[in-house]
Amino acid sequence: MSVQARPKRLSVTQIQSRKGGDKIVCLTAYTAPVARLLDAEVDLLLVGDSLAMTVYGFDSTLPVTLDMMIAHGAAVVRSTQHALITVDLPFGSYQASPEQAFGAAARVMAETGCAAVKLEGGEEMAETVAFLVRRGVPVMGHVGLTPQAVNALGGYRSRGHRAAERDKIMRDGIAVAEAGAFSLVIEGVAESLARELTEAVAVPTIGIGASPACDGQILVIDDLLGLFTEFTPKFVKRYRELGEEIRAAAHEYAEDVRHGLFPAVEHTYPGPRPSKKAAAE
Ligand code: KIV
Repeated sequence: MSVQARPKRLSVTQIQSRKGGDKIVCLTAYTAPVARLLDAEVDLLLVGDSLAMTVYGFDSTLPVTLDMMIAHGAAVVRSTQHALITVDLPFGSYQASPEQAFGAAARVMAETGCAAVKLEGGEEMAETVAFLVRRGVPVMGHVGLTPQAVNALGGYRSRGHRAAERDKIMRDGIAVAEAGAFSLVIEGVAESLARELTEAVAVPTIGIGASPACDGQILVIDDLLGLFTEFTPKFVKRYRELGEEIRAAAHEYAEDVRHGLFPAVEHTYPGPRPSKKAAAE
């Protein structure tokens, strides 16, 4: 009996070893059909808590629960076989203590099958990152604009324009990387800061609104596809306008139904065939 070679998922250590090498391609994914389409094209899929906005229609990531992340994380893991899957720890599930963070991360990993979790925060989260990593939980850090802190930061504007804030973001990134994170998302900062931080840490940096100076890039899939159009940040490149396509398809369908053009013959089950006897009569 031959043993079929199964495609192997990228591992945390493979991603980590890409520091300064081939760019690391990342996207968010939240559902099985989309994850299946993206899997072969990317190195890492993040089940981001941005699903609060893209899937659930909230206006911040704060209402997301651990159960929501687990349901979406499990769907993405089930439908992929190549990309490394990382799942966001939602607001309130890890900030209280390292022990709380371990409980949340353990549930996410055990119930989804993902390989890593992501959490937001810098120096103040370094102890938690080290606690998780020592216990076998690979952690992706996230510094700069950290959306779970929207109320403390006063909005979603880019960060690090003043010297004090810039120094803080540098300290944040270095602290999380030195605590053992395998990679670091840098969000919403100028190129010079992204470059300095990328040069200062030994792990790959993944930029979102953080210039090409990072070791890799991530975008929210709905932004890239033109599905989330209420607000498009400066750093987003829309590769398609699927929102318009969906609207147009729904309009054509509605017109066809209203004018009796759908369903047509080819979409309709034929009735029972007449028996030979009945056909001969
Ligand atoms: O939740 C998310 O999608 C993220 C990315 C924007 C990095 O954290």
